[in-house]
Amino acid sequence: MKPAPKTYAVKSFGCQMNVYDGDRMAELMAAQGLTQAEPGEADLVVLNTCHIREKATEKVYSDIGRLRKDAAKQGRAPMIAVAGCVAQAEGAEIVRRAKVDVVVGPQAYHNLPQLVARAASGEAALDTDMPIDMKFGHLPARRRVPPSAFLTVQEGCDKFCTYCVVPYTRGAEVSRGWSQIVDEAKALVDAGAREITLLGQNVNAWEESGKGLHDLIAELDKIEGLARIRYTTSHPNDMTQGLIDAHGRIEKLMPFLHLPVQAGSDRILKAMNRSHSRDSYLRLLERIRAVRPDIALSGDFIVGFPGETEADFAETLSLVDAVGYAQAYSFKYSPRPGTPAATMGDQVAEDVMDDRLQRLQAALNRDQTAFNAATVGRTCQVLLERKGKLPGQLIGKSPWLQSVHLISDAAIGDLVEVKLAEAGANSMAGVLAQAEA
Ligand code: 5AD
Ligand code: SF4
Repeated sequence: MKPAPKTYAVKSFGCQMNVYDGDRMAELMAAQGLTQAEPGEADLVVLNTCHIREKATEKVYSDIGRLRKDAAKQGRAPMIAVAGCVAQAEGAEIVRRAKVDVVVGPQAYHNLPQLVARAASGEAALDTDMPIDMKFGHLPARRRVPPSAFLTVQEGCDKFCTYCVVPYTRGAEVSRGWSQIVDEAKALVDAGAREITLLGQNVNAWEESGKGLHDLIAELDKIEGLARIRYTTSHPNDMTQGLIDAHGRIEKLMPFLHLPVQAGSDRILKAMNRSHSRDSYLRLLERIRAVRPDIALSGDFIVGFPGETEADFAETLSLVDAVGYAQAYSFKYSPRPGTPAATMGDQVAEDVMDDRLQRLQAALNRDQTAFNAATVGRTCQVLLERKGKLPGQLIGKSPWLQSVHLISDAAIGDLVEVKLAEAGANSMAGVLAQAEA
């Protein structure tokens, strides 16, 4: 039996939705009267895990081992809770293998306080239910809010891309209710947020009684004090005309779109069950650029999907050339247990994947640098988010989601007019527009 914890730490891995969930779990623990501590010192450590790629599961087990060893050196035995997608996928197996105290899935973490109490009474506590009644209604109000805040509006995925675990770990597509979202957005702005990023695995599939994400964005647009709206991640097939038009119409909606394509070859897209083609994706981008010519595009790519030939990969490279992404993420295919692709023939050799990833990343870096260079000389607003390393330096984001650093005595949370002066591969140097005039 372990005493009820007095301090807690939450370590989040993976996507922005996990960061959001991790912050909510921290709020839950704080609402129970626990104080935050470093993971190496806390009585309760929550590992908020990711299952999307690599040997994520093994990483969780080695993290648990390390935590225990370090704590044992100090004569402590912290309570360990495994949350997130590994918890959902592995369930009771984690309790058996690693003897952790709590296992809680991504749809059940509002029950964390009760699970911790059960664990304190000596019982291993597991909850990987996916109730229809979503967790959001059970979460306490948020206290610490950064200038740029996340707000989860949608969860889960019905797309079943053949490589992906998300439909299994996060469950079916569910939209959070309109009024709950609007209330949370207002509360975030009251607490200091100037920018809100709406989150969802398929955020643009959000819907409620015939209303779509663009209607929700139009409603949030009315919130005084909210300066910027973003959303991520979108699926090409859920990119409605309404949402495209919103990019031309709603000024607060930032000119940035993360729209994963994964691959450039129709044969591979089909095997991935992506339900869009190379051509339909490119035509979609044309329609978006028609309403918002300066939009910065971002994407996700997988190299080495089973059966991918050099000719298929060349089509990915040529798609990259055709689009000119402002930034993008690229990964080596990683078989996920239980997904259809994991048992497909023709798995691609590791060294071939390494080589393709390198070539793809070289092309993406080239385009990112070119995008940044093309913005030099523009004046735009930058939302200041944090201090930089140099004295007087602040770092914020441009409308196109570039990191911009500048010297200024403005405050974190301010929106300042900045001239983009110099482009780097990953960031921009800016000068205050007034200072420059
Ligand atoms: N292997 C490699 N990358 C993957 N992704 C999802 N599943 C896998 C996998 N099994 C990537 C996709 C997705 C991003 C979040 O992670 O590119 O868009
Ligand atoms: Fe995974 Fe595909 Fe759903 Fe994205 S759309 S979460 S890649 S199944």
